[in-house]
Amino acid sequence: VSLGIDIGTSGTKTLAVRETGEILAGASAEYPCSYPKPGWSEQDPELWWEAVVSTVREVMAKAQLTPADVSGIGLSGQMHGSVFLDEAGAVVRPALLWNDQRTGEEVEEIESRAGGRAQLVRMVANRALTGFTAPKLLWVRRHEPKHWDRVRKVLLPKDYIRYRLSGTYATEVSDASGTLLLDVANRRWSDELLGKLDLDRSLLPDCFESPEVSARVSAIGAKATGLAEGTPIVGGGGDQPAGAVGNGIVRPGAVSATMGTSGVVFAHLDRVGFDPEGRLQRFCHAVPGDYCAFGVVLAAGGSMQWFRNELGQAEVIAAKEQGVDPYFLLTDEAATVGPGAEGLFFLPYLTGERTPHFDPLARGGWIGLTVRHGRAHLIRSVMEGAAFAMRDCLELIREMGAPVNQIRLSGGGARNPLWRQIQADIYGQDACTINASEGPAFGVALLALVGTGAFGSVAEACDATISIAETIAVDPPAKAYYESAYAIYRGLYGDLRERFA
Ligand code: XUL
Repeated sequence: VSLGIDIGTSGTKTLAVRETGEILAGASAEYPCSYPKPGWSEQDPELWWEAVVSTVREVMAKAQLTPADVSGIGLSGQMHGSVFLDEAGAVVRPALLWNDQRTGEEVEEIESRAGGRAQLVRMVANRALTGFTAPKLLWVRRHEPKHWDRVRKVLLPKDYIRYRLSGTYATEVSDASGTLLLDVANRRWSDELLGKLDLDRSLLPDCFESPEVSARVSAIGAKATGLAEGTPIVGGGGDQPAGAVGNGIVRPGAVSATMGTSGVVFAHLDRVGFDPEGRLQRFCHAVPGDYCAFGVVLAAGGSMQWFRNELGQAEVIAAKEQGVDPYFLLTDEAATVGPGAEGLFFLPYLTGERTPHFDPLARGGWIGLTVRHGRAHLIRSVMEGAAFAMRDCLELIREMGAPVNQIRLSGGGARNPLWRQIQADIYGQDACTINASEGPAFGVALLALVGTGAFGSVAEACDATISIAETIAVDPPAKAYYESAYAIYRGLYGDLRERFA
């Protein structure tokens, strides 16, 4: 049995998974995020540790496991966050998270020190984004020199948990790719960029491949969690690459479209490739030697959450009375109108946009309203707008020349039949769902099974445990309609960009 632990932004989820892929038990614990100033987003790493300790204990009790039953542990988590540690391994200040936006100036500084965007992409395969780790280091160095003087190590969120469990400083290539300090092509830290940024290599931990054993539970870690001392901890993966393993996206041609609050379109790559603009995030995959590319829509499912909260009060109340999910009442209504919602478009840029616009000032809105439109049209257009935004990411993947043979849908958007159909028709390709859509915690539990010898490779582990649940066939007339609607959608952002600023 392996444990998969995913340290998310809103909570931690732990799963116990048998070699067959069967999930024996799961537990989760939530914690808050703090926003000390507009655009800032921080968390106290102690909250993650408490959640890990409680969920591990809960899962062990639920599945009636003894410490000796656990053959290995896999760690996943929110990517890009920075945990600053002093000489003694104590946390210097709260961690800056992936959705923190304070580092605009540092992003520019990095591109300029690198000699321009294309040079930066040549070194680390990615453009600089405010959320990434490197700009956070520069921000603390500039704005909090007293803190910076004490910093001896910088860890990603899940790697801090590895440190608490084992006393070892280590990371792995998939999460390290999101620091902007990894030479992604060669899967090692970029001494070239570290030099240009005047950052000491000793700040960073050793870097492993994702299924490799990177550390072992220490006596202190064992006492806190009830796990056995010496239990191996594999590298694990950032939540996107780990979630992709959990969806079986481990071979060329497999692409996933995951619609949670954000939306991510993720492709497996067998080589890293090059785009001087860095329009997709190109990272090492959690599969040894492989790469991935993905685009992130910030408010995909998030747009529907917004609609439910602000305009769906009646459904929320009705759903409570009927004991059903309010989203299903909303989407039942949306199903009463046809594809395209009679010419109504929704732009889902409610929190700015990452891929493909990289524009924190982008804003959402409905375009094309007439008196004929009612709530059903509004809802349908929100679902379609989220799928169009995902299609923007998919187009970048197609342009890159990566084969897209099979699109696997997951997340909240895959649980709803109408949204599944809308996605297939807007992506213009048959799509499917899988049996065990348990996300990153499941993915890293598989990596732990690989690293401890239960499977020979990540692909083998996925083949043995993941199967197709349902295929969603494209509806040709809807596809044709959406093809022309997408051309209009695509132009709207450019038409409006100047007005958002
Ligand atoms: C990936 C990303 C998010 C975070 C938080 O680039 O920003 O997926 O990992 O979940």
